[in-house]
This record gives sequence, structure tokens and C-alpha cells, in this order.
Amino acid sequence: MKTQVVIIGAGPAGLLLGHLLREADVDCVIVERVSGDYVLGRIRAGVLERTTTDLLDRLGINARLNAEGLLEEGLCLADGGRLIRINTYELTGKHVIVYGQTEVTRDLMEAAHDRGLEIIYEAGDVSLHDVESDTPYVTYTKDGTKQRIDARFIAGCDGFHGPSRKAIPASAARNYERVYPFGWLGILADVPPCHDELIYANHERGFALASMRSKVRSRYYIDVPLTEKVENWSDDRLWDELAVRLGPDVAPHITRGPALEKSIAPLRSFVFTPMRHGSLFLAGDAAHIVPPTGAKGLNLAASDVAYLSDALIGFFTRSDNDGIAKYAEKALARVWKCERFSWSLTKLMHRFPEDGPFERAMQVAELDYIASSRAAQTAIAENYVGLPL
Ligand code: APR
Ligand code: PHB
Repeated sequence: MKTQVVIIGAGPAGLLLGHLLREADVDCVIVERVSGDYVLGRIRAGVLERTTTDLLDRLGINARLNAEGLLEEGLCLADGGRLIRINTYELTGKHVIVYGQTEVTRDLMEAAHDRGLEIIYEAGDVSLHDVESDTPYVTYTKDGTKQRIDARFIAGCDGFHGPSRKAIPASAARNYERVYPFGWLGILADVPPCHDELIYANHERGFALASMRSKVRSRYYIDVPLTEKVENWSDDRLWDELAVRLGPDVAPHITRGPALEKSIAPLRSFVFTPMRHGSLFLAGDAAHIVPPTGAKGLNLAASDVAYLSDALIGFFTRSDNDGIAKYAEKALARVWKCERFSWSLTKLMHRFPEDGPFERAMQVAELDYIASSRAAQTAIAENYVGLPL
């Protein structure tokens, strides 16, 4: 088979890129290791920036998003007894939308067939070849037969564990990494949210987050040591802990219910450079990971894809090399800003085991400053609703 762009991975990054290329009549094929159902089984965060929803609007894959998404005007930071509200809409003129990222993936997958976007699911042993040449190709195994797709470019959208990043020689690469000493234990339940905006809480017992998927489905998290086991957390124990950490003003509004899902995810900050090597481009989690504080993971994948789709469309439809040449630098500049925001919100809202009274005093001072300064709130709001492309 021959195409213009082979996309590896049918997560949000690969699917969004595939749709944007197809819409501009650029040929592409997506190769995915697992089945569509398996991809949709992954539970992800639930906050979309305008940069992300603008892309879905441009594609017209927004009917369910517009019908079911909740427009958010602000967020809250809780610290023991106090609740600091940041009116992100008033400060930036932009909303974020609460809509499950799994639902974004579902909408993109369901639109693929009608729009002629080809996705090859359950492709085994996906390997990249000749990425330094102008004639790269991808091989994979499907139903026991080895297949080959020749292309002009390969887009590595295959997440943190995929093969694309590994196809770039170590001598050309650099990794930046921070692993955090805790994970987030999350619970999803069909109960109304305790508040109509997200609450990030820093309590002496640890971090908590009150989030939601809809007016009848809630998502909550607490941080736990990396050694913690999900089996140690009955639903009751988790609800009790959330009530304590979210504080006395919020606790009475929590509605408890049985967990639909409960799991622990580790936190990591990671950046890989370069995001382009020869004919191979990386986008999304293949190139970077942010801790979930601030919900930037999918939004950052979407901004990579916005730059990359423009670059590839320019190349194939206008013979314009400029976007291709500048992709890595442009995408990385935004990646670092989002990494900084996710890291700083993580530092502000979590109790690190190595921290002492001085570090805690710094958190209190920063929260005091945020509570009293429109400029400080604006800085958080701009990052939270999404930096411009
Ligand atoms: N061959 C083919 N596909 C692969 C391979 C492989 N060897 N390895 C991984 N993949 C696929 C995965 O199965 C997955 O479907 O690549 C896809 C990568 O998807 P994600 O991990 O969701 O990464 P990305 O699309 O970059 O998502 C960006 O969205 O929902 C958020 O938290 C999520 O931060 C992430 C963001
Ligand atoms: C979620 O709703 O799952 C969520 C929201 C905000 C975050 C992380 C996760 O920062």
C-alpha cells in the first residue's frame, strides 16, 4: 500500500490528525495496535481547551460536544478551610468545556468511516523504516500476514510506549523527565458533582480533585503513595477521604455512589526532543507527558496536531516546506509552557514527602498571593483555558 502520511496510533492525537488531513484531501492511513473498543476503554481526563474544541468545530465533529459539554466559567483552589475561586472566563474571555476525552476519541472514531479515514486496528509488530530518507515505510502484521505501507511522512502518535520515539537514534535525542513520588487514585461514579466547577484541593492529608463528566456523573481523585494498592480503597474509605481533603465547605455537597471505575495513575513530566527526525514527526504523548494537574494531556496533543496538520497540508497542497521545517521548534515552545504550568500547579497543590515547613510556607504564600491578585489569577486562567497557538 502507498499513501502520503502513515499515522501510528489511533488515540486522540492520531485520530485528530487523520481527520484534519483527510479534510484537506491529504492521503493517510492510521495503524493502531489494539482494537477500537480497547482504545475506548481507557479512562482519561475531561477538560477541553478552546484550541481543542476549535479543531473539532472546524471538522464539524462537534454535535455531541455541543449538546453534552458543560461550559465552565471558573475553577477553585481549596487549601484547608479556604476556597479561592478564579473566574477564568472573566479574566480571559474563554471557557473550558467539560467533556470526557474518551468521548472525543469515540466521536472521532465514529466519524472516520463516513469521511474516508482508514484505520487499521489490531496491527501487530508495527515497525518504522528508513525514517531519515524521503521514502520511509511502516510494516505491521495483520491476521498473520506481514504488510507494508510506503509514505512520504510518518506521524508518530503512538503514546508514551509506542515505537515511534524509539526510531529516533539516541545520539540525536534528549529526554527531560521528572517522576513524582505519588499517583492519583481516581473514582468515577454516577452521582451529581459536588460543585459546578472543578476544585483542586491541597489538604494536610494530601491532594484532592473534584471533577465531573456531566451533571450526573462525577470524577474525583486523591493522591496516594506510589506503593498504594487500589484494593486497599473501598468506595466508603475513598469517599470519606475525599470529604476530609476537599474541606468543610465542600464535603456536605458530595453525593456518594458506587464506583464505575477506580484506578491509580502515576504522575510524570516528560519531554523528548527533537519532535521531528527526517521524515518522522512525533505528536502527543509520544513526545511528552504532563502530570494530570490542569488536564493538559489531550489539549497539548491537539495543539501539536494543529501545527503538524497545517505543516503537512502546506507541504502537499501548496508545496510549502516552511511548516515542516518549523514544526518541531514551534510545537516544543508550547509544550514547554504547558509542562511548566502542569508542574507548577502540581507543586502548588500537593504535599511532597521531601517537603518541610519552608516549602509549605511557600505554598501558603503563593495561594495568598493568588487569592489577592488579579494578575496572579490571570496568569493561571490564561494557562488553564489554553495558551494561544
Ligand atoms: N503500534 C500501533 N499503535 C500503537 C502502538 C504500536 N506499537 N503502541 C501504542 N499505540 C497506540 C495506542 O494503543 C494508543 O491507542 O497509540 C495510541 C496512543 O494514544 P494515547 O496514548 O492516547 O496518546 P495520544 O493520542 O498522544 O493522546 C494524548 O490524550 O486522553 C489524553 O491522556 C491522554 O495525554 C493523552 C492525550
Ligand atoms: C478529570 O475530570 O478526569 C480531570 C479533570 C482535571 C484534571 C485532571 C483530570 O486536572
